[in-house]
Amino acid sequence: MKEKIEIIQGDITKLAVDAIVNAANNSLLGGGGVDGAIHRAAGPKLVAECATLMGCRTGDAKITAGYRLPANYVIHTVGPVWHGGGKGEPDLLRSAYRRCFQVAHENGLKSVAFPAISAGVYGYPMAGACEIALQEAKAALEKYPEFERVIFVPFNEGALRIYQDTFKRIFS
Ligand code: AR6
Repeated sequence: MKEKIEIIQGDITKLAVDAIVNAANNSLLGGGGVDGAIHRAAGPKLVAECATLMGCRTGDAKITAGYRLPANYVIHTVGPVWHGGGKGEPDLLRSAYRRCFQVAHENGLKSVAFPAISAGVYGYPMAGACEIALQEAKAALEKYPEFERVIFVPFNEGALRIYQDTFKRIFS
């Protein structure tokens, strides 16, 4: 099962997978970080479709087409803003990952790539965010055997190392 998990450092907008996940905000109307990069690469039809979705609650996820992206779909999720950890942040982040996997399953997708949801502008510490990401991938691969590839996309060297270390700890 762990063979289905890949860690690839770089730009998630370049990946030709069934779906890439967007770390969006409640409006789903675009922003900075990975959200900005995804909207720039997908083109203006993406924000037009997002505008029909009436936003997204923190911990939930919604799917759109990928437009000019190499990925066929975008699963937009909203992670929590980090307020120190005592405001339900871990449960909300877990819920964001779970909903992404559920939406992927409901749409018959087999490969999904994730950025480090909440670990940028929203301030969630990378190590804790990564732990939740990999635990939820493990649970989803047990629950949905049709998934073929779950890809995590750390954006820099520091994040890459955290993903690699966490992967070793959880899967060995
Ligand atoms: N590919 C992969 N990862 C990326 C890319 C990319 N092209 N660009 C940035 N990252 P963030 P959040 C990494 O801030 O914390 C937006 O304005 C980045 O280094 O994009 O969930 C939304 O509209 C970090 O590790 O998302 C929201 O308002 C990770 O992606 C808010 O930011 C997530 O950082 C969401 O904040």
